[in-house]
Amino acid sequence: MREMDSALDLQKELPEGRVLAVRGLTKDFTMHLVDGRVAHALKGVDLEVEQGEHVALAGPSGAGKSTLLRCVYRTYLTTSGAIGLRTSTGAVVDLATMPDWDVAMLRGREIGYVSQFLRAEPRRPVIEIVARAGIARGMERGEALDAAAVALRRVGIDEALWPVHATVLSGGQKQRVNIAAGTISPPRLLLLDEPVSALDPVNRVSVLDLIAGLREQGVAVLSVFHDLEAIEMLATRVVVVEGGRVAADGDPHEVLRANHGLAVAR
Ligand SMILES: Nc1ncnc2c1ncn2[C@@H]1O[C@H](COP(=O)(O)OP(=O)(O)OP(=O)(O)O)[C@@H](O)[C@H]1O
Ligand SMILES: [Mg+2]
Repeated sequence: MREMDSALDLQKELPEGRVLAVRGLTKDFTMHLVDGRVAHALKGVDLEVEQGEHVALAGPSGAGKSTLLRCVYRTYLTTSGAIGLRTSTGAVVDLATMPDWDVAMLRGREIGYVSQFLRAEPRRPVIEIVARAGIARGMERGEALDAAAVALRRVGIDEALWPVHATVLSGGQKQRVNIAAGTISPPRLLLLDEPVSALDPVNRVSVLDLIAGLREQGVAVLSVFHDLEAIEMLATRVVVVEGGRVAADGDPHEVLRANHGLAVAR
């Protein structure tokens, strides 16, 4: 019954041009090692992201920002609420309740996720990691390898590193490979969780430029950055999350001014 109800609602919540509509999202963690105590990480979050919009999540450590991104990507199952996605075919789906197999299909073309860590299989060369992301988004192998080369050059990964196993890369190099894979053929919705945290200033700027360019391609971006400068450069809207709830939502400059002292910088 819940699926039918949320599907009906979500059609209304996702007019054309809107990519994501999160409604009443809650996430509890049961900590089995701590007397089964329950942590309420998200306590009813409402949020939307339009096509070509970059929404930055801000707020203190432990507020629930990463948990929210992981629920949208379905790394975590949600406790209650709906996560509506309007796909490129115009279909409206609920990521909170749809079967794992269907989520896996959407993860290629429709939803991308870049975290601060590269989860690379140990023996896979850098170029393969990026090309496989392209194949998952519907490219032929040859096309994917070409696109992977373009994507790696764009983030400044030297050709000498392409055949190397990703495990031997530095933290900043891994992060750039991760970005290259996440943006090889940009998905409809891109989730970014501190994607530049390990980068030196030069590479940081080039990756931020790359992310800025995604908006022109109509990608909907939902991000977490820990520095205000990146948020001011990229975000079209800022949503402040505090204690698992949305505390503010609006124009970046207004929200950041009103939340003076916002704990986003580390
Ligand atoms: N797998 C988990 N098991 C138990 N509790 C968790 C789990 N993941 C997150 N939490 C808890 O949920 C809350 C929100 O964590 P989350 O990682 O989403 O915060 P955040 O806003 O991303 O913080 P940061 O800015 O430090 O990255 C925290 O209290 C955290 O301890
Ligand atoms: Mg986090």
